[in-house]
Amino acid sequence: MKYLSSFIQTLALLGIIVLAVSCNGNEAGFNSRKIAFNSDWSFHLNDSIIDNDTIAASTKWRTLNVPHDWSIEGKFNEKSPSGYGGGALTGGLGWYKKTFKVALENKEKITSIVFDGVYKNSEVWINGHYLGKRPNGYIGFQYDMSPYLNYGDKNNEIIVKADNSKQPNSRWYSGSGIFRNVWLETTDKLHVGQWGTYITTPKVTADKASVSLETTIQNQNAVSKNAIVTTAIFKEDTKVTSVTQNITIAANADQVLNQDLIVNNPILWSDEKPELYTAVTTISIDDKIADEYKTSFGIRYFKFDLNKGFLLNGKQVKIKGVCMHHDLGPLGSAVNTRAIERQLEILKEMGVNGIRTSHNPPAPELLDLCDKMGFIVMDEAFDMWKKGKTKYDYSLDWDKWHVRDLQDQILRDRNHPSIFMWSIGNEIPEQWSDEGPVIAKELAGIVKKLDTTRLVTAGMNPAVNMKIDEVTLQFEKNDTYFNKLATSGALDIIGYNYAHQTFEHHQKNFPNTPFIATETTSALATRGYYDEDSQSIKKWPVRWDLKFTDGNPDNTVSAYDQVQAPWGSTHEATWKVMKKYDFLAGMYIWTGFDYIGEPTPYEWPSISSYFGIVDLAGFPKDVYYMYQSEWTNKTVLHLLPHWNWKAGQTVDVWAYYNNADEVELLLNGKSVGIRSKKGDDLHVMWRIPFQSGTLKAISRKNGKTVLESEIKTAGNPSQLKLRADRSTIKADGNDLSFITVDILDAKGVLSPKANNEIQFSLKGNGKIVGVCSGDPVSHESYKGLKHTALNGKCLVVVQSGTKKGKIELTAQAGGLKQNTIIITAE
Ligand code: GAL
Repeated sequence: MKYLSSFIQTLALLGIIVLAVSCNGNEAGFNSRKIAFNSDWSFHLNDSIIDNDTIAASTKWRTLNVPHDWSIEGKFNEKSPSGYGGGALTGGLGWYKKTFKVALENKEKITSIVFDGVYKNSEVWINGHYLGKRPNGYIGFQYDMSPYLNYGDKNNEIIVKADNSKQPNSRWYSGSGIFRNVWLETTDKLHVGQWGTYITTPKVTADKASVSLETTIQNQNAVSKNAIVTTAIFKEDTKVTSVTQNITIAANADQVLNQDLIVNNPILWSDEKPELYTAVTTISIDDKIADEYKTSFGIRYFKFDLNKGFLLNGKQVKIKGVCMHHDLGPLGSAVNTRAIERQLEILKEMGVNGIRTSHNPPAPELLDLCDKMGFIVMDEAFDMWKKGKTKYDYSLDWDKWHVRDLQDQILRDRNHPSIFMWSIGNEIPEQWSDEGPVIAKELAGIVKKLDTTRLVTAGMNPAVNMKIDEVTLQFEKNDTYFNKLATSGALDIIGYNYAHQTFEHHQKNFPNTPFIATETTSALATRGYYDEDSQSIKKWPVRWDLKFTDGNPDNTVSAYDQVQAPWGSTHEATWKVMKKYDFLAGMYIWTGFDYIGEPTPYEWPSISSYFGIVDLAGFPKDVYYMYQSEWTNKTVLHLLPHWNWKAGQTVDVWAYYNNADEVELLLNGKSVGIRSKKGDDLHVMWRIPFQSGTLKAISRKNGKTVLESEIKTAGNPSQLKLRADRSTIKADGNDLSFITVDILDAKGVLSPKANNEIQFSLKGNGKIVGVCSGDPVSHESYKGLKHTALNGKCLVVVQSGTKKGKIELTAQAGGLKQNTIIITAE
């Protein structure tokens, strides 16, 4: 506190007048009582160790909007304390402050500041009053500022300290700072509490659904209040039903109100048709609305069945999920709704229907999007409990904070129809000891007190290195090596990470508990890079506990589905098991997208992962199309690798296809053979000597052509081509256009090995907020105006300003024809 008051004194002495920023409501959230509080923060990074707890002397404030991640702005550094596991970027101690006014009319109201997440160890002050600390980083929190505010013309100053200086504290890239949205919430003194509604649908049939609402109402008045509480359920703009009740609530008290409604002919939520309803709760006093609170929810029923796996609304649905870390590639961990939506769109196109929020509470926007787009979410709380995995991680805060953090996560998230399972932890070290079951029961108890409608699980390690029979044997002997959480009785559903070879024995080992593969695969690939021959399966690293020396000198990994971590399996091997058994509810593949940090199998200079089915820039690797051919109705014919090799070199050509009986491959017009998938095959292959020209595949069904696909030998790189995912974006200062740069030869064929450095320039009301090629070895800044392409591709992310108009982006590279694209901001 000393430094804080001295800081304020310094400002006063210097007579510094901070420009007052009144909150603008144009970024209003779902509930109108909340407005975005993201713009015009001042930020100061004080990374110096000597000086690390004082901001008094600092003058270097920078104005920026949050969500903000300062780590992504730094340089990759081999010596960074975060390690390459954490992406080799900088942590440090960051300060944010913001000056604002609160209208006089709000003096009789409650004004709260809401943070969706600050990484990490945040501490907040308003006008010099300490509001509190939250170490976790990923969980949201709010503070009532009302008693300390100035109203009318006088300024208020909020200060946030985020301390991410003790590193490593994470096994992956965390980012640092106010990396999620901030809101200012204004309510009447009589209002629905924080995360104050809980909506369940205890009985659902085709004709009707019962909807139960539990609403916590807070009276912060010094006198008791009589009020009318109405909850109306809407489907889009149509009111479906409503219920009204009179309440009397004592002074300074909370009251829980139960309301039951019936929705006739409910339109059910599913991954295929994610239909949502909205409950609007209004509290009125003397015919005046004191508070209005909206809750989005869905009506659905489900079961994890011992024999049929996952049943959603009575229908068997295989969970085809992916694990995702929270970073957004070149944007770092700073939340942007469009960036999350794009990731989910790319995954949906592949056929993904499930997301595991590994290994922490996600941004609220992710869950909103999963509700709207139809994903089956496993909402995960922790990567460790009491026993840490890195030196300064959350285990240090465990005793003091785990109850509160877990409670808050469940309260925050329990109305999302997309969530079906709570995971209380990932590969928790205590899983092997007697402490595991004790903590698991405690955590499951916390969850069950707040939500009994979903299942509790954990991502556990089975005895991976044992043969199947041994696994069963160990289980029967209850040997100490066997996972103790699995047999603790605390979990409603057994969740295993990896060991796909043991899945088929699940029913024997656990006849009464359903199963989910919480994490699978950990296969590895660099987009557009291929090692011959494609048939050899490589385990990289060779052993997890030994230094890895067998890889490629340039830290590449082949994108034929042939490289896996030793604890994992190839994509094909895993999916084959998963699709074979009905009782296997599904899986969450490690990972959907590459993420920053954990560059397995390599260490520095690699700094981002190779696990993604989609690379860090959002470009699919080849195996994406294997899944698409299996998981969607879309007709697929995808050929790999590229067609630029040495004359005469033997090349394995793979095709992923569906909706056809056979594929014929032609090289320069001559057939090199017809192939069909046999048994459980997921691709076909030809081994042929390379000859430059055109490789063409034709898929056929009953002799008729279904699809044709071609790859051509590219000449020298000659031109750049820009393609935007959306060429019209909102002029809201937030929206993004993701623009792909392709490096083409003179005839327009993608140059599959081109790695030119591309320069970007922009005219108009917008800015470049990210550049990325998906190369795990690149140390160029994601925030620069130039970037080196990887295998013919690069991504540039353009953000709108708040003015409407044209944004003109130009890409240039030495010796290549430049290209310009126009984005319209509306
Ligand atoms: C798992 C772990 C993940 C990630 C993955 C890499 O064991 O749960 O967080 O580290 O390995 O293969």
